[in-house]
Amino acid sequence: MSDTDDIPQLSADTLAALSMFQAEQQEKIEQLQSGIIEKIDEDWQLSQFWYDDETSRKLVAEGVAAALEGSEARPARIGCVSSPTLVKFFHETEEYKTGQIQLTLFEFDDRFGLKFPTEFVHYDYKHPTDLPAELLAKFDVIIADPPFLAAECLIKTAHSIRLLGKSDVKVLLCTGAIMEDYASRLMAMHRTSFEPRHANNLANDFSCFANYQTLTFC
Ligand SMILES: C[S@@+](CC[C@H](N)C(=O)[O-])C[C@H]1O[C@@H](n2cnc3c(N)ncnc32)[C@H](O)[C@@H]1O
Repeated sequence: MSDTDDIPQLSADTLAALSMFQAEQQEKIEQLQSGIIEKIDEDWQLSQFWYDDETSRKLVAEGVAAALEGSEARPARIGCVSSPTLVKFFHETEEYKTGQIQLTLFEFDDRFGLKFPTEFVHYDYKHPTDLPAELLAKFDVIIADPPFLAAECLIKTAHSIRLLGKSDVKVLLCTGAIMEDYASRLMAMHRTSFEPRHANNLANDFSCFANYQTLTFC
């Protein structure tokens, strides 16, 4: 009996299908890297629900204003935690283009690492302390939108935010209104008047919380 007798053999059809799948994946990776793919599709397994453009612009405007207020230090640092849609909109701001703000995206979905390689940090809220040491206590503003409406998810995300933020970090949290009590107890947050909206309507009552007096939301 030869060594290879025990190894299951794939049929020619299966091999062809596998090869086609690999080629398609490779093509997607190259398109992401080259910037051809503007929008990454929502993956509902990862609880991905993208903001609509107006919501993204309003969150980015507030994030920039909050980052530049109160401190002369430049660049001011902004962290997006599980909120990858915002990166493209931050890139469009004058403050980003002129180096007044610096951005880091903490996100689980590695497709965003292909699209934004220099600003992406792989992040899993289930391991809240797995963060690069050089980024601890560095952020002036953090905008977070955790994947699940569950106490465990918010508690762990809040743990990461506390580690990443400076002592006076300003935090915007977009999540279901039902998380209000946790947001208040974990991060002393209040519900703002701003209601984030999504490109594909969500049935949930969605809110934006802040731990400071927001500057641009009426
Ligand atoms: C409710 S969506 C928020 C997206 C936001 N509305 C946007 O448009 O950018 C949740 C985000 O959490 C990310 N996510 C999924 N699993 C995660 C995990 N284990 N740890 C951290 N983030 C995760 C998803 O990829 C997604 O970007």
